[in-house]
Amino acid sequence: MRVLGIETSCDETAVAVVEDGRTILSNLISSQVDLHRRFGGVVPEVAARAHVEVLNPLMEQALAEAGASFGGLDGVAATVGPGLVGALQVGLAAGKAASLATGAPFIGVNHLEGHIFANFLEHGPPEPPYVCLVVSGGHTMLIHMPEEHRYEILGQTVDDAAGEAFDKVARLLGLGFPGGPAVDELARKGNPDAVRFPRAMASSGDLDFSMSGLKTAVLRHVRGEQAAGRAINPADLAASFQEAIVDVQVSKTIRAARDRGVERVLLGGGVVANTRLRERMRDEVGAAGLRVLFPSLELCTDNAAMIACAGTSRLLLGERTPLDVGADPNLRLAS
Ligand code: KG4
Ligand code: ZN
Repeated sequence: MRVLGIETSCDETAVAVVEDGRTILSNLISSQVDLHRRFGGVVPEVAARAHVEVLNPLMEQALAEAGASFGGLDGVAATVGPGLVGALQVGLAAGKAASLATGAPFIGVNHLEGHIFANFLEHGPPEPPYVCLVVSGGHTMLIHMPEEHRYEILGQTVDDAAGEAFDKVARLLGLGFPGGPAVDELARKGNPDAVRFPRAMASSGDLDFSMSGLKTAVLRHVRGEQAAGRAINPADLAASFQEAIVDVQVSKTIRAARDRGVERVLLGGGVVANTRLRERMRDEVGAAGLRVLFPSLELCTDNAAMIACAGTSRLLLGERTPLDVGADPNLRLAS
């Protein structure tokens, strides 16, 4: 089953062709990072316009690279939400048009489900149940998944998402945009124990997260050191900040899996590209007697292969999305 995936929820225009929900025949991403860099963040209107400009040629290229054609598609999957409404509408409209023109069934995909299903590309899904940690620029969420496509939210951030915290601290350290990869790289040269930042809600008893206290603590530390005339060590600061985030994510993920008696942990979202998070999850979730899966690096951040993968699974269950569906910037994971 050959499915075209389209993802335009934020600042990456992405198109992929995936066979049987596993084999990636093509997976193209046109990044808008250079367009948004001078604004220090993603500008929604600029994002939507850029998607319009590149989406059609990108679809042609993805089909050509896959050795496929519009006529040979067995399904079309596009992200419906959550995300930036104007950006979402561009990909959604293209997906509906492709479906209408070819007769291939259309399926709308939740972006968060896409991040979770990125784990199933290449190897297929292991037996559920799972506990999933989704950490991206917009979300930080622990989810219990008793079976595929059933979701129970166990906890989430009460303020900023983890990726947002990475981006803001990167800005504070003058590392530019996007911040996550820059902090990750700098932190490799730093000492994670140099500054003891707060582990927000680490012992709150629930499975929620909070990032704003940590962000403020980093800011206060920088100002305090400057006021005292001491030079800050950016690498130590990056490593210490990152360690505080990773600490809480690792411990809460293990707690969630134990609470639910679940052995398999799935990680998804852009922040899962973080070197330290991957390293510590592998070691500590493994040491807790659990199995952890995460997508390969390039499948953690936004891509369309994950959308095609989740869409294929739903199409195989006989689901279809009516073509009058609208983009939903606040779409939730439905159980
Ligand atoms: O999933 P994603 O590509 O887009 C959203 O759905 O939001 O995640 C993007 C987020 C950004 O905040 C980016 O800074 C962060 O993921 N990110 C990272 C790393 N790579 C991307 N954060 C920490 N370490 C990384 N290596
Ligand atoms: Zn994402």
